[in-house]
Amino acid sequence: MFDDMYREVILDHYKNPRGHGTLDDPDAHADGQNPLCGDEVSIYVAFGEDGETIDEVKFSGRGCAISQAATSMLTEMVAGRTAVQVAALDKDELLEEIGIPLTPVRLKCAMLGLTTLKVALHKAKGTALPEGLAGFDDLDLS
Ligand code: FES
Repeated sequence: MFDDMYREVILDHYKNPRGHGTLDDPDAHADGQNPLCGDEVSIYVAFGEDGETIDEVKFSGRGCAISQAATSMLTEMVAGRTAVQVAALDKDELLEEIGIPLTPVRLKCAMLGLTTLKVALHKAKGTALPEGLAGFDDLDLS
């Protein structure tokens, strides 16, 4: 029954993604790709006046329900946190939010947005990259 509830939440995020779109002049930005399927997510971040706290996060791209829903959930989770806090955000926090067990392949889908966000923050602020890029070895770092 709980699984059903989580599935509904995931579908709702997929159909009505929060934070969907782009920012014209982002303070941080990265494009990520899941090498297993080629799906892509681009992340755009605007910092608040202190230059550290995330004021707004937007994302665009295409992918499966899990990747898009997880990225949508992520945009809600990280607003108001600092770049350093988000760089240290444990993937389990996002997985708890997703709430259903995921196969290793689906785990990559779920991590696409978070990994891309961490890369964006790394490029803009020099914060830590996720260990081994969470398997996204050919994530575009340019
Ligand atoms: Fe491509 Fe999930 S199948 S990100």
